[in-house]
This record gives sequence, C-alpha cells and structure tokens, in this order.
Amino acid sequence: MKVLGVVAQKGGAGKTTLTVHLATYAELQGLSVLVVDTDAQKSASKWAHRRESETPAVFYSEVSGVPDVLKKAKGKGFDLVLVDTAPSHSVDTAKVAKLADFSIIPSRPAVFDIDAISNTTRLLAQIDANAAIVLNACPVGRGGENSLTTEVRKALADSEYPVCPVSVTQRAAFTHALIDGRAVNEFEPTGKAAKEIQNLWNWINEQLGAKHG
Ligand SMILES: Nc1ncnc2c1ncn2[C@@H]1O[C@H](COP(=O)(O)OP(=O)(O)O)[C@@H](O)[C@H]1O
Ligand SMILES: [Mg+2]
Repeated sequence: MKVLGVVAQKGGAGKTTLTVHLATYAELQGLSVLVVDTDAQKSASKWAHRRESETPAVFYSEVSGVPDVLKKAKGKGFDLVLVDTAPSHSVDTAKVAKLADFSIIPSRPAVFDIDAISNTTRLLAQIDANAAIVLNACPVGRGGENSLTTEVRKALADSEYPVCPVSVTQRAAFTHALIDGRAVNEFEPTGKAAKEIQNLWNWINEQLGAKHG
C-alpha cells in the first residue's frame, strides 16, 4: 500500500481538487483507493456525498488519527491512500508528509503562492520527506506549456524540491465535474483535463514506486 500526501499551507492551491481527481483516476486504473480527508472543511467528504459511486472511499479523520486509519486501510487491502490536508497547519502538514511515501505540494503559478510554498518546502525538507511541487491552475498554453508556467518553473529551480514536469491547467472542467461528485476522467474522459490527470498520475505513480519498491 502506498501513501500519497497532498500538502500546502496555502488554501485554494488545489489540494482537494487534485486529491479527488488522482483518487478517481487511480481507481479507474483498477487500484483500490482511499482518500483520508483531514480538513475540517470536509470538501473531499462533501464531494463523496454528492457522488453516486461508492469508490474511491473517502473517510474523514483528524491528523492524529491518520496512523490508525492507515493501519486499518492496509488490513482492508487498499492499494493507495491519499491524504488531503487543511491549509496553515504546519505541525499537521509535517505529520502527514512524514507518514506518506511521497507528497505533492500543489501551487498556483503566482508570486504570492510561490512565496507561500517556500514555507512548506522548508518544513518538509527539515523532516526529509519525499515530495515534489505540482503547478496547478496554470494558464492555457498554445501547443505547449504557457510561458508564465515555464517562468515560474525556473523561479522554483532553487527550491528544496523538484517541480513535477506535468502541470495542471486552469480549466472549467475541473470545477464542473466536482459539482455532482464526479472527476474529469468521468465527466469528459477524452478531454484535455482528463489527459493532464492521467499524465500527473503516471508521474506520481513512478515516484511512489521509485521511493518504495
Ligand atoms: N486546475 C483547476 N482548474 C480550475 N479550477 C481549479 C483548479 N484547481 C483548483 N480549482 C478551483 O480552485 C478552488 C480551490 O481549490 P481547492 O482544491 O479547494 O484548493 P485547496 O484544497 O488547496 O484549498 C476550487 O474552487 C477549485 O474548483
Ligand atoms: Mg481543500
């Protein structure tokens, strides 16, 4: 069983959006997936309530309960657990990143957001966590990555953590799909948003495999 942490001290970075999309895509790929929602706002849990399908499983727990949830998830045969987190809880962020095999740090490609992720990357580096930054809600590119996204990528080159080569674009499909508890790979399986989630999952899956053979 692999554990993927989704952490960022800034709200609105896309933690929950990426968590439920990656979880749904991994489930579509045949994995048995659990999302542990540790945010008191319960966005992932509310998404699950709106959803018709019973999978991926979504379970709310405070961060202090996560080790126990992981133990039980292993016993139940889950292949993958994603832990969605609340913004601005440095102790909780560190705890989740420590429990995870690998973590993603979503960030919008904007100056204030980049400033904010340095807090998260410093914190994770202190505990020697495996992680990468994922640029999310990026402007649409024309035939490739948008130049702003590329600039931000360069600005982050000195960061403690690498930037994932797959960035996720700001697309209405990501918001539309969530309204009735779906994900883009169900809502518009051949769309560009679905392709990005596929590419992102493939990259993350490699990191999970590489870090935990
Ligand atoms: N790639 C994206 N494209 C369009 N909207 C997005 C994207 N990522 C996030 N959003 C929107 O931004 C808002 C914040 O995202 P959310 O996942 O709730 O962030 P967090 O969990 O980090 O607070 C939500 O309204 C979500 O629908
Ligand atoms: Mg959230």
